[in-house]
Amino acid sequence: MIMKKKKIDRETTDVLLASEKFYRPSRKFLASLQIKDYEKVRRQAGRDPIKFWTEAARELVWFKEWEKVFSAKSKPFYQWFVGGQCNLAYNALDRHIGTPVENKTAILWEDETGRTRKFTYREVYQEVNKLVNGLKSLGVKRGDRVAIYMPNLPEIAFAMLACLKIGAMHSVVYAGFSAQALADRIMDAKAKILITADGSFRRGKEVMLKPVADEAAVLAKTVKKIVVVKNNNAAVNFNPQRDVWYHDLTKDMSAEAKCARMDAEDPAFVLYTSGTTSKPKGVVHVHGGYPVGVLRTIKWVFDLKGDEIFWCTADPGWITGHSYIIYGPLLAGITTLQYEGVPDLPAPDRMWQMVEKYQVNVLYTAPTLIRAMMKYGNDWPKKYDMPSLRILGSVGEPINPEAWKWYHRHIGKGRCPIMDTWWQTETGAQMITALPCASLKAGAAGKPFPGIEADVVDKNGRPVKSGQGGFLVIKNQWPSMIRTIFNNPERYKKTYWQEIKGVYFTGDLAFKDKDGYFWIQGRTDDVLKVAGHRIGTAEVESGFVSHPAVAECGVIGVPDPVKGEVIKAFVILKQGFLGSEELKKELVGQVRKTIGPVAVIKDVAFVDKLPKTRSGKIMRRVLKAQELGLEVGDTSALVS
Ligand code: PRX
Repeated sequence: MIMKKKKIDRETTDVLLASEKFYRPSRKFLASLQIKDYEKVRRQAGRDPIKFWTEAARELVWFKEWEKVFSAKSKPFYQWFVGGQCNLAYNALDRHIGTPVENKTAILWEDETGRTRKFTYREVYQEVNKLVNGLKSLGVKRGDRVAIYMPNLPEIAFAMLACLKIGAMHSVVYAGFSAQALADRIMDAKAKILITADGSFRRGKEVMLKPVADEAAVLAKTVKKIVVVKNNNAAVNFNPQRDVWYHDLTKDMSAEAKCARMDAEDPAFVLYTSGTTSKPKGVVHVHGGYPVGVLRTIKWVFDLKGDEIFWCTADPGWITGHSYIIYGPLLAGITTLQYEGVPDLPAPDRMWQMVEKYQVNVLYTAPTLIRAMMKYGNDWPKKYDMPSLRILGSVGEPINPEAWKWYHRHIGKGRCPIMDTWWQTETGAQMITALPCASLKAGAAGKPFPGIEADVVDKNGRPVKSGQGGFLVIKNQWPSMIRTIFNNPERYKKTYWQEIKGVYFTGDLAFKDKDGYFWIQGRTDDVLKVAGHRIGTAEVESGFVSHPAVAECGVIGVPDPVKGEVIKAFVILKQGFLGSEELKKELVGQVRKTIGPVAVIKDVAFVDKLPKTRSGKIMRRVLKAQELGLEVGDTSALVS
């Protein structure tokens, strides 16, 4: 009898899929969910978003309640929970102490070589407090900035939380960035402490970070101390005046520390992201609104009941890692799995084997990883039933229907819904996504999360017809939104609020179908998405131009079956230089040096001329159309 019911559930999903192109949750699955009606919760929140977010804020602890939930007084510097006092780290950690969550596993960790560690909430609390006291002994104070350049280790979470407890801002820089890129970010934030590790293991090799940190500290003079986590026991240069081992710094420190009372609008962290100029933008998030958005989304989008093992495969160096490896799971009091390594070592079943080993309930990953796994074939996941998995997630770039279906069928075994979540560093939390109770379409990101009003408009801000492409905009405000660009409020205003009047400009193109589902089509601006990582064309071009042989350069993204996009560069050489294979290699090396391995250059073409506007701006759109054999479109601005 039970067998028969199971069969019907599976059939319900697949039969409907064939007839309507909708994936509908089975009745059994629907019955297990906390929210059963997608449209109803969206409608309710839409009637009064302020009420919706107020209720969400009540799930957190406030040292002092706010006086006003939302203020547009200094528009577009919107404020949330004005007058309230709280601390993001208190909500993610301290408040669980003395409750049953205290003895629950907070962090599970495994690295590529198979080493494992685990920490309960109490243990994380103690580790964080020791580091708070250690950092204070180095002079870190409320309002300071601390740079963090680390692999995916439990210590990155400790370091982030410790900064917040002091009231200092963290600035995490992805460990795939070069010394120059790290130094630029340190200098912009004027960070005086850098927390790093000796290195880690990747693809079976040792990847060293301390030498990169050393080089960055020479370039960025603000750095007075480097705290080093011993992870791979590699021999590193150590400057005893400047450097201190993490374990030495913390070993005699008290495991108790006070948590700073912060105003809801006090900045919690800055996270740099690429924009349309070569200078990355320091996106600022705050103590009050950010956790409200993160907690509400993680709980609703992944139907958390409180006992989940949550695996987000991003890196803590990106916003996805901030919000859904570290803060989201800890705010929700569940267990987060951190994996420091690649997904296909020792074999392409590493992830599925880990899902079974740790009994993962929610897997949140990126289309590029799914496509890479698809290429290895179906036999690898077939060996694993993965019965613990309930809900799957996707983020970072559009998921093509083929990858969606593979993920659903071979990883979700036709039983787990896929939450394709659209959002950005700037939005702090998920914005356009289905909920598990919703009917899904392979490749569509669903509809706006409750409380969010999004639309697709033309350049004058007029909504376009369904099925027609346009600019994706957000029409209202939300608690986890970016507050400003660090040290550059003008750029904040201009980038997000002046492109199209009265709305938040996302920089993405999209269309809405007749059922109101949003299909994201990529960036409108000169930002690339390489394996889901956001890279500015201007940053890459300035990397090329920093080579003495290069006069000018224009780069474009070209489609790649696994990485989504890879970079192709068109280079004009200075007189006296000749294009050669060697020079190509050297240029690629130069970009790696200025940006880091994150910038994957697929090809370099030497050219005599670049398409430009009268004012001398390179028309990358034209380069791209020529490269891909597409319609060039409007070329009235082009000078021949
Ligand atoms: O173009 C969109 C794409 O990633 C951009 C934001 O990049 P970043 O700030 O690095 O944050 C990535 C993770 C939140 C967006 O402007 N993007 C993100 N998620 C999706 C997506 N594109 C399509 N579908 C998504 N689910």
